[in-house]
Amino acid sequence: MGLVKMPRLLTLDDVDVKGKTVLVRVDFNSPIDPETKRVLDDTRIKAHGTTTIKELAEKGAKVVVLAHQGRPGEPDFTPLKEHAEILGRILGKSVKYVDDVFGEKAQNAIKQLQNGEILVLENVRTFPGERKKASPEEHAKTEFIQKLAPLADLFVNDAFAAAHRAHASIVGFTAVLPSVAGRIMERELKALSRVLENPEKPCVFILGGAKADDSLDISRYVLGNNVADHILTGGVVGHVFLVAKGYDLGKPNMEFLEKKEAMSLVPGIKELMQKYPGKIEVPVDLAVEVDGKRKEILVEELPTEYPIFDIGAETAHKYGEIIRNAKSIVISGPPGVFENEEFCFGTKRILEEIAASNAFSLAGGGHTIAALEKFGLADKISYVSTAGGALIEFLMGKQLPGVVALEKAAERMS
Ligand code: 3PG
Repeated sequence: MGLVKMPRLLTLDDVDVKGKTVLVRVDFNSPIDPETKRVLDDTRIKAHGTTTIKELAEKGAKVVVLAHQGRPGEPDFTPLKEHAEILGRILGKSVKYVDDVFGEKAQNAIKQLQNGEILVLENVRTFPGERKKASPEEHAKTEFIQKLAPLADLFVNDAFAAAHRAHASIVGFTAVLPSVAGRIMERELKALSRVLENPEKPCVFILGGAKADDSLDISRYVLGNNVADHILTGGVVGHVFLVAKGYDLGKPNMEFLEKKEAMSLVPGIKELMQKYPGKIEVPVDLAVEVDGKRKEILVEELPTEYPIFDIGAETAHKYGEIIRNAKSIVISGPPGVFENEEFCFGTKRILEEIAASNAFSLAGGGHTIAALEKFGLADKISYVSTAGGALIEFLMGKQLPGVVALEKAAERMS
């Protein structure tokens, strides 16, 4: 697969929104307390609220916010009433909310909006057709788009974090309304282009966490397109890469990989290691848990009867040197179980190295962000992405339907 070219989109700079009714799709999807159903973290609401939504309202648009929360049938599938309240608090102004997506209630609320007012509609996933994977043209035929589009002058997609979904509210409006990217969408794509399109070299990708299959696809893409000079592996990702190097990790760890169905990735990883010798680093030592305590072992001492929960000090030191020489750094997934005090060492050291570096650094994924916050390092990273799955797909070189739809709309509008 060739290098994905950064999309050419129109933005809020290209449109006049004063007095216009603007549908803005954001990603407010937040962690929800399963008991109280309350929003546990308002990072995403803040991100969209303080940028795109604020700017549209200040420019005198009638702002209609479209968003999802959870998936039908899941415990985090909730209405957006609290999200609207949080948005109001963040902006310090009243934000309207209506428990309807495109029915009469929603339509009337939109028609009554004054310049500068903000209205949040109900969770778009209450519309059963929302999550159908379809083309913009197909979605544009649904009642949802047919009812709302005639009331609006412009569609703004700010939901980079949901742009990997070919859903109605993500792509449908782009077929029938002038459509531009919001500030978060713009910012995410700009940051990603800095690391994926001619990144300043050396460029280092640090892949940790549990999603080994995603990491293999990302490695394949960034090595195949001469984006990354080094890939540093940790976490479960590091374990699978160690197995591909021929190590037996010992019963509890091998069983864990089998349970996660990660062993099927080994042939692909071996092939990649042969094709790009010296580019992929695996841990040289590891921390295992013995009676609830951390114990470090060299990989030469494997197999171990104890579970592995972190990289060791030697690995952190070795990775640190590579990070210090880097000009571009991407980290997706922590190298260890940082939530446990005994095993947070590796993640902390790696994040501290990134924080101290002058390189352009990009971090993404819920666990990585949680680790950055735990160690108070989030503001030392050049760019912290709000996205999870969308970021991973982008780093794999996949085209995101939401971004492609905006590109097509831009072509039509130019
Ligand atoms: C996310 O949180 O990654 C996005 O909001 C997408 O959510 P989804 O995986 O439920 O489509």
